[in-house]
Amino acid sequence: MITVNVELGERAYPIHIGADLISQTALFAPHIAGSSVTIVTNTTVDPLYGDALRSALAPLGKQVSTVVLPDGEAHKTWQTLNLIFDALLGSRADRKTTLIALGGGVIGDMTGFAAACYMRGVPFIQVPTTLLSQVDSSVGGKTGINHPLGKNMIGAFYQPQAVIADIGALRTLPPRELAAGIAEVIKTGAIADAAFFDWIEANIAALNACEPAALAEAVKRSCEIKASVVAQDEREGGLRAILNFGHTFGHAIEAGLGYGEWLHGEAVGCGMVMAADLSVRLGHLDEASRERIVAVVKAAHLPERGPDLGASRYVDLMQVDKKAEGGAIKFILLKRFGETLITRAPDEAVQATLAATTV
Ligand code: NAD
Ligand code: GLY
Repeated sequence: MITVNVELGERAYPIHIGADLISQTALFAPHIAGSSVTIVTNTTVDPLYGDALRSALAPLGKQVSTVVLPDGEAHKTWQTLNLIFDALLGSRADRKTTLIALGGGVIGDMTGFAAACYMRGVPFIQVPTTLLSQVDSSVGGKTGINHPLGKNMIGAFYQPQAVIADIGALRTLPPRELAAGIAEVIKTGAIADAAFFDWIEANIAALNACEPAALAEAVKRSCEIKASVVAQDEREGGLRAILNFGHTFGHAIEAGLGYGEWLHGEAVGCGMVMAADLSVRLGHLDEASRERIVAVVKAAHLPERGPDLGASRYVDLMQVDKKAEGGAIKFILLKRFGETLITRAPDEAVQATLAATTV
């Protein structure tokens, strides 16, 4: 097992990464102070890993209940969130109740937001079971739900007590979900570490094949980078926005098509190709680097062309992005692998990028 720490002073926490961690009681014990635990999971993950988690918790002598939500991005809503509050209030959960998010990023984001809100804040633990949630969403404390007018628009910064990333759980992940997680790994290498980007290119076949050693390295390095960025800028005053490379275009694709049509990671994969195109168009990035991004996105079996939403719809949707200020869209662009810039872009360049990178 490897442990990466997120250094946030009194809100610091460990990310444990390794095989078969869900069943290890000792990893949960230090982070559960109260007498009850509520596991939040979904209809897909509960049958796979719910019993292993409940068995791990049993020796702790806590009252354990489980809320099983419907599966999917389309359920990352107020209505589904309310099911968690219904269960917590129904079971008289108190201020020391610990929530455990068992699932992918949708479960993690919603459970974290529920934990932030219930009785104005109860502790929670992330047990991410998708590659995407292990390399990205379970770390850093962004929690929330979608609104029909914009992705992740309602939420809170709220850090977990611990992240327990069980690489073994990735064995059951469908290939499309694995690829979606690889998109966030590519993003992390591109924005922060040229050597890691080289490593991803060299190991893309091993990642596609779900090889445990390659996955463990990808999760470890992605978490180290994300932990470092979050420790420097927890609430996205500046630096943390680089983690949104590919997301400005990507969020527009997700909202424009309707949540769940494309996976978040698929939209980010394509969004990185679009952001790289814009970076070249504005003279920040060289063409060879753009081609490397397109090639690795393709090699990861991610879409490299966006859907035809119409340019004005893309622009409307990107204006709802949280980085937009007064309707002006801010783009995360690449200068070279490991170096980004955050900037506005002339309308003509954005239109040209959309024309070149959508079907
Ligand atoms: P997801 O949570 O929808 O999970 C993908 C699918 O895999 C689901 O059907 C899920 O039930 C299933 N699944 C989960 N674990 C499984 C396993 N081990 N075996 C088989 N099936 C399994 O999607 P995701 O890609 O994990 O997360 C995407 C979400 O994360 C989006 O809502 C996105 O906005 C959010 N996100 C948040 C952050 C953040 O910083 N908070 C960062 C990136 C993404
Ligand atoms: N996924 C972007 C962030 O955590 O800031």
